[in-house]
Amino acid sequence: MNIINTIQDLRNIIKNTKATVGFVPTMGALHDGHISLIKKAKEENDIVVVSIFVNPTQFLAGEDLDSYPVKMEVDKKICELCKVDILFTPNINMMYGNDEVLIKAPILRSYTLEGQRRPEHFDGVLQIVLKLFNIVQPDNAYFGKKDAQQLSLIKQMVDDLFLDINIVECDIIRESDGLAMSSRNIYLTKPQRELSLNISKSLRIASNLVAKNCLDCDEIITAMGKVLQQMDIEYISIVNQKFERIEKIELKNTIILIAVKVDNTRLIDNIWI
Ligand code: PAJ
Repeated sequence: MNIINTIQDLRNIIKNTKATVGFVPTMGALHDGHISLIKKAKEENDIVVVSIFVNPTQFLAGEDLDSYPVKMEVDKKICELCKVDILFTPNINMMYGNDEVLIKAPILRSYTLEGQRRPEHFDGVLQIVLKLFNIVQPDNAYFGKKDAQQLSLIKQMVDDLFLDINIVECDIIRESDGLAMSSRNIYLTKPQRELSLNISKSLRIASNLVAKNCLDCDEIITAMGKVLQQMDIEYISIVNQKFERIEKIELKNTIILIAVKVDNTRLIDNIWI
């Protein structure tokens, strides 16, 4: 595995290859969710590039930027075991200037749900993803459905800015007890983790209701709310894939999303119906 930390070095390698390039951008502290993206990229491309960069511009003041888990040595080992070809680990000075051109996420799709709680979060996500796309120039880029709104906005950016990149949507990977994998799960104490299982439980209840032909979104949200009673719910929302709120479930075009706070830890999860 080639570990590269300058933009020029990465460009030199990518420029001289005719191989297909698959790209998995991450903020590190890799877990099985990230690994599933890397494996898919390995199956579908000649060369796989993984980036690890904790992007400051997507964290709001008061969020966990300073305590975000950094596990570079373990991450390197994981990437090696996954046979990643290039691990790109840029630093902040390389990635950002002082007074630079800024990307603005579209209002309708980005200032709702996650964006309502974390205004400007998606501006920072799109800013860094576009920069990384321009450096790596991948054929295929891999993103998890776990961050459904992020995925939707990246797809919109690719369309709106005419980027020639195929975005591959990857399924959510869960712990054996149902909790969606996340780098932030390590913040949870045992009792908090126990409580967090209600998140995936409420999503299972929602999908069972849909299977029984209950398509009324209010009814589904009420049933989910009961399961999450003991938790600090930020939102339970049902949207179509454009992130517009809907009243009736539209099969193959619906995402049911949850965000809760367990003490100071924010957890998100969703299912696609
Ligand atoms: P990060 O949270 O490290 O996630 C990197 C990728 O892994 C994202 O596409 C995310 O959706 C995916 N992922 C995380 N948990 C997952 C799970 N349980 N199952 C499947 N996929 C999962 O998302 C980011 O980093 C950043 O915002 C980034 C895109 C790198 C820009 O900074």
